Formats: sequence, C-alpha cells, structure tokens
Amino acid sequence: MKYQNLYTPYTKKKTMANSNTLSLSTFTIIVLVLQLNFFSSNAEAAGVKGGYWYYDSGLDASAIDSSYFTHLFCAFADLDSNTNKITLPSSTFSTFTQTVQKKNPAVKTLLSIGGGGGPTLASKFSTMAKQNSSRKTFIDSSIQVARANNFHGLDLDWEYPNSNTDKTNLGFLLNEWRAAIKQEARISGKTQLLLSGAVSGSNQISPLQYYPAQAITNNMDWINVMVYDLFIPDGYRNSTQPPAPLYNPTGIFSGSEGINVSWINQLKVPPNKLAIGLPFYGYAWTLVNANVHGLFAGANGAGSIPSGGSTPVYRDIRSFINNGAQTVYNSTYVTNYCYSGTTWVGYDDTQSVSSKVSYAKSIGLIGYFAWQVGGDDNNWTLSKTASSIWGP
Ligand SMILES: *[C@@H]1O[C@H](CO)[C@@H](O)[C@H](O)[C@H]1NC(C)=O
Ligand SMILES: *[C@@H]1O[C@H](CO)[C@@H](O)[C@H](O)[C@H]1NC(C)=O
Ligand SMILES: *[C@@H]1O[C@H](CO)[C@@H](O)[C@H](O)[C@H]1NC(C)=O
Ligand SMILES: *[C@@H]1O[C@H](CO)[C@@H](O)[C@H](O)[C@H]1NC(C)=O
Repeated sequence: MKYQNLYTPYTKKKTMANSNTLSLSTFTIIVLVLQLNFFSSNAEAAGVKGGYWYYDSGLDASAIDSSYFTHLFCAFADLDSNTNKITLPSSTFSTFTQTVQKKNPAVKTLLSIGGGGGPTLASKFSTMAKQNSSRKTFIDSSIQVARANNFHGLDLDWEYPNSNTDKTNLGFLLNEWRAAIKQEARISGKTQLLLSGAVSGSNQISPLQYYPAQAITNNMDWINVMVYDLFIPDGYRNSTQPPAPLYNPTGIFSGSEGINVSWINQLKVPPNKLAIGLPFYGYAWTLVNANVHGLFAGANGAGSIPSGGSTPVYRDIRSFINNGAQTVYNSTYVTNYCYSGTTWVGYDDTQSVSSKVSYAKSIGLIGYFAWQVGGDDNNWTLSKTASSIWGP
C-alpha cells in the first residue's frame, strides 16, 4: 500500500476537499469507494518481482514459470522513426499476456519499448521526444498497442538520454504520457496502464544527470535500475572483475552506489519507485595464470566458455560448473565467480541474488527485476531464490 499509484486517490482527494457541497454520507461513500479503488489499483503493493522476457532468447513464453514473478516485461517493441509509432517484432507479443497468465493468473505484463540498441536506437527516442506532435503520436500508439494486445502497462527502455535536451524532452514525454494514460483509463473505465522504465544504474554506464528525476517520480510507477555491466572485459582487460557488485570497498561504482547514492540521495527518487536489477548472466575473462584466479587476478581480456561464449547466461555458467569449474562467492563485493583452467567468469548465483534482494527489501525498494528470464536454469533457480527471499 505504501508503494505507488498514489496519484489516483490523491487527485480525487484534492477535488473532494475543495467541494463544499458533499454531505457526510456522500463523503463516507466516496471515501469507501476511494479505498476500494486504492486497494484494487494498488496491486504492486506486495512489491515487484520482475523479469524481462526477450523474444529472441530461445525461451518460449509458454515455458516461463510465471509463478515466481509479479510482473513480466515483454521485450522489445521498436520505435519506427518514420511514423513515431511503435511496432512489435513478433506475433508472440499478442498472446504473451494470456500465455504467461496460464501459470499465474495474477501476473501483470508490460510491453517494453526500446532496449540496448546503442546510439542508433537512442537517437530515435531523442528525435521522437523533440516535437510535441511526435511525442503525441508515440504516446497514443503505445497505449493503443498495449490495450490491443492485453498488456497491463508500458515500459520505456531508452538507453540512454544523453544531453540536457534529452532530459527536458523526456520530462515532457513522461508528463504527457501519464496524462494520456489517465485520460484513457477515465474514458475506457479500465485500470490505468502501468508506466515503468529501465534506466542507467551508474555514471559508469551512462550519465545519470540526464534523467528528469522529478518527472520520473511524478509519472512513473517505478523504474528498473540497471546496476549491472559495471566492470566488464571491454573496459577492464587486465584483471578479473565483479561485473555487478553490490558493494565496492576499493572503488566508486557498485549497485548500492547507483541505487542509494545516485538515484535516492542525489536524484531524490524515492526508494519505493526503484527496482534493483539482477543479471542472469556473467562475463568471462582469460586468466594470465590458471593458478591465480581470485577477484582482480591478472587477465588477458575477454574469455569464453564452451557453451555460452563471452557473456554466458546463468544456465550456461551452470553447465560450465557442472563440468568441473570451481565456484567462489565473495560477500565483500557480493559477486560469484567460477574458473576452470584459464577461463574465469564473474556472475550472480543464488548467494549474490539473495543478498541483492535482501538489500532491496531492507532499504524499501519496490522490488527487483531480472534481465532476462531465459538466462535462468531449467529449475528456475535464480527466479525461485529471488522470489522466496522477497517473500509473498
Ligand atoms: C509543447 O509541449 C510543451 C511541453 O509539454 C508545452 O509546454 C507546450 O505548450 C506545447 N506546445 C504546443 C504548441 O502545444
Ligand atoms: C593493461 O595493460 C596494458 C599493457 O600491460 C597497459 O598498456 C594498459 O594501460 C592496461 N590497461 C588498464 C586498463 O589497466
Ligand atoms: C573478496 O575479494 C577481495 C579481493 O580479493 C578480498 O580482499 C576479500 O577478502 C574477499 N572477501 C571475502 C569475504 O572473501
Ligand atoms: C534440477 O532439479 C533436479 C531435481 O531437484 C535436479 O536433479 C537437477 O540436477 C536440477 N538441475 C539443475 C540444472 O539444477
């Protein structure tokens, strides 16, 4: 109940307080109705156990064990830069909601727009957001596509706003988007669509100063903070690294720095609008010396595991381990790693997932999300762990 969708009752309360004509009984009835609305529109109150499903991951949507999730993000719709409307890459998007609700009728689905498409994709968002008319076309199209395909919400993955102009225009976009969502709900009589986003988790990834924090707080149900990919072989060739540490006693960047220092203390987005990212994948390095295999051991750039390559998903890392790799959990950084010969992989296993989810709960975040559910093993080990640590 403390979480979000607070704007619905707040707006109505304001109207009510300004009216002198309400009788006590009408007032009582309205309060009761508001409370019902409040609870029914606030199904995220138990928190967000989120997971992205990527349509090209190899995992069929029907194979997702949705019982471990409250929210599933269907990724990704594209932005057509000619029309400023959104397009779906696959017909499976149209049946996604019905499919994942078979195992969990209460699970909510959000259509995720954009993704990690680099500067080309980012510039499409930047251009769309510049003009009032293109923003309106985009917003109307997103709502129409969400409703036509039975999604409960929309998720903006603009990776990343990268200038003060982007910041201003993203702020306009979010204000106008929420207004349009409210209006659509009023007209259709349906529950408002949820509005979330995936955002940079650290200045190490992309500058956080270009996010319109106030517009995010005012208009979004929550944001998924991508506190992963912080230390990867591309940038750190010479030594093994924790790719997504929760803590970093000897450096600046970490999950807790991104969430607590940057998003909460500096940008002032309340904790109950933030979900922490859990990577269901890792990064491989090549060790200089097979016998020196700790964190920050000498490395010769990226490595590769037999099945999974240089950015293996968890299920591939488990095979590597089942085939003899040694595993270590380092609780100082909150990272797992494993190694065999000169191949070394930093990743998240049950211990780091547990610790991150406990952290999220302890500081009052709305929940967590995984990228991406197809990376989990066949027993849904990480999804199950995160869900049980978060609790019902
Ligand atoms: C364009 O959008 C901005 C931001 O929402 C608004 O302030 C301005 O009035 C709009 N201009 C027109 C011509 O509608
Ligand atoms: C890695 O090592 C190379 C050669 O030893 C050196 O030139 C380079 O600066 C090092 N890079 C980093 C990021 O430490
Ligand atoms: C984690 O790794 C760092 C760097 O090697 C080390 O200093 C620290 O003691 C390790 N933490 C634990 C709990 O082993
Ligand atoms: C999944 O669980 C089964 C039964 O509990 C176990 O035998 C199997 O090894 C597990 N597989 C993985 C990939 O963990």
